[in-house]
Amino acid sequence: MGNGIAQVAARAGFTVLMHDIKVEFLDRALSTISSSLQRDVDKERMSASDKDAVLSRIMPSVEISALAGSDFVIEAVPEIQAVKSATLKQIDGVTRPDVILASNTSSISITELGTGTSRPDRFIGMHFMNPVPVMKLVEVIRGAATTDETFEITRGLAETLGKVPVEVNDSPGFISNRVLMPMINEAIFALYEGVASAEAIDQVMKLGMSHPMGPLQLADFIGLDVCLAIMNVLYDGFKDSKYRPCPLLTKYVSAGWLGRKSGKGFYVY
Ligand code: 3HC
Repeated sequence: MGNGIAQVAARAGFTVLMHDIKVEFLDRALSTISSSLQRDVDKERMSASDKDAVLSRIMPSVEISALAGSDFVIEAVPEIQAVKSATLKQIDGVTRPDVILASNTSSISITELGTGTSRPDRFIGMHFMNPVPVMKLVEVIRGAATTDETFEITRGLAETLGKVPVEVNDSPGFISNRVLMPMINEAIFALYEGVASAEAIDQVMKLGMSHPMGPLQLADFIGLDVCLAIMNVLYDGFKDSKYRPCPLLTKYVSAGWLGRKSGKGFYVY
């Protein structure tokens, strides 16, 4: 999702410092951004020179210290609390104290992540949807200490990026994943119990409910590891068995079948 966020920010005219831990990850991100922009060039919605201009505003770096001059930071590392907390601590250490830190977490407590930094008042959730260049929603999540000023600046930024910000309070899974993930998990249970094939489950939801993707296709698109991590946040957060991850989801993740990104999930890619 980080490359999608970098793309929409650069397209909105911002200079973007895109940080990752390996050069190959940054190269892959730039190539994804280039292909995504090329769709608009092919459809004559963007000129080739505008595409080049957007790409030239994205500065990749593997050095966290490169973030020192940033005015706003959006973190989008994997959905693992320890990894997010460690990364946010590093970002906190190199950025000016007045800078707002936003997390693109799908489900982890904004209050807890913010408490681990020196600026919980300037910490906020900014949850984009996949594919970021296409989906309009950004959930803007206040932690317990997030100030109104931080919220307003973040909401304004989301609008400048061409998105529709929706305010949500801090609670496991926020709104998007509290509603979406149990549906996906239930679809996986239906497959696990042999109620229908993967194709049939997806067809029911596409043709019957006008969902653009069926729940299993969407799970593959999101990443099964991400789905499992979110179900675990819901399960741990509410201590309610209705959020238990389906054993089939756990098994697929253990097998390394993570969906589109690994070439196999509920479907083969
Ligand atoms: N970059 C830029 N544009 C893209 C794109 C990308 N990566 N992927 C698709 N598009 C554009 C296409 O160019 C096309 O634009 P146009 O209609 O203006 O010409 C449009 O999106 C539709 O694309 P396609 O015709 O190629 O394909 P589809 O009609 O099948 O749409 C889809 C693809 C937009 C991904 C659609 O299937 C969809 O909306 N799927 C559901 C996505 C969804 O539910 N996302 C939320 C996931 S949950 C989440 O992210 C939260 C997280 O915390 C887990």
